[in-house]
Amino acid sequence: MNAQGHTRRAVAIGVGHYLPERVVENAEFEKTIDTSDEWIRSRSGIERRHFAAEGQTTSDLGIKAAEAALADAGLTGADIDALIVATSTADLTFPSVATMIQHGLGMTHGFAFDVQAVCAGFIYALSSANAYIQCGQAKRVLVIGAETFSRIMDWNDRTTSVLFGDGAGALILEAQDGAGESGDRGILSVDLNSDGQFRDLLYVDGGVSKTQSTGVLRMEGREVFRHAVEKLAKTAETALERAGLGADDVDWIVPHQANLRIISRTAQKMGVGMDRVIVTVQDHGNTSAASIPLALSVGVASGKIKRGDVLVAEAIGGGLAWGAAVLRW
Ligand code: UT7
Repeated sequence: MNAQGHTRRAVAIGVGHYLPERVVENAEFEKTIDTSDEWIRSRSGIERRHFAAEGQTTSDLGIKAAEAALADAGLTGADIDALIVATSTADLTFPSVATMIQHGLGMTHGFAFDVQAVCAGFIYALSSANAYIQCGQAKRVLVIGAETFSRIMDWNDRTTSVLFGDGAGALILEAQDGAGESGDRGILSVDLNSDGQFRDLLYVDGGVSKTQSTGVLRMEGREVFRHAVEKLAKTAETALERAGLGADDVDWIVPHQANLRIISRTAQKMGVGMDRVIVTVQDHGNTSAASIPLALSVGVASGKIKRGDVLVAEAIGGGLAWGAAVLRW
């Protein structure tokens, strides 16, 4: 709270997304690996996903999503003073995807950096943006989730290659004064967690320091699933409690889109009906850190999410790292 009795809030003023042109239906995988459309649909809820074109990078997707969010807010890069990108699939080892997007938007001011918390990355990035806004270090923050997981797939591994997709989503947060109450617009609370004892359940088997190569994704899907529902429901409930709200106050859960069964069981555990959950996993697959801003953007564009709605975003992924954020749209 400041001297005037106001609480500084990070309020959403624009959202947008970009999906690469190429759409790959489940049936395409039947040609190369021992799988079926029926298995993929029934086990994950996924029907199709988008894959980036050859040469199209994570920053390319991020720039397009950022431009859409800026257009939605009626702003240009000149109006933004911080840019945070959640990604695990950077164009290069360095510099950050964030600085590449910053350049792509024609910005030569402000500061930009990447956050790496795999599928939970967007929640971590939101939390960082909220902190910069609340402490007065930034006024308008562009938060982007952008991924090209198609670049780190083992195409012979049927247990992972059918699950992931590429895409990007972007959200612009602006410092605005609130009353310090749960009725305020903006981010109301965040809960972050990680536990490295589970680092071997979901990882990429290459990297700069260990192999000097990129590597491919490895996952103990059943084990990750087992942790997911319990940890997601708990983090969402913690975040709601911190915001002074309960499950009945939730207008929309905007979950990480990894698996429809995880999404629905988590909602059920929280006591929220599926009619109050934004679901895009059927069309996007798992886009890691991009999945929440993609779902947010689709939810707003479809007219489901309206100004004043209470949203709970929750995600879990490699680390394990997980968390939730509550915001009033
Ligand atoms: O975003 C980061 C967080 N990640 C997640 O949240 C992913 C969490 N995990 C999951 O979503 C699910 O565990 C999967 C979708 C990955 C797998 O579903 P499941 O119901 O846990 O299946 P399973 O791993 O227990 O496999 C069941 C069977 C196995 O055969 P057996 O051992 O029972 O004979 C697999 O070999 O299904 C087999 N299988 C497949 N069959 C056809 C695995 N992948 C495929 C496939 N097509 N693509």
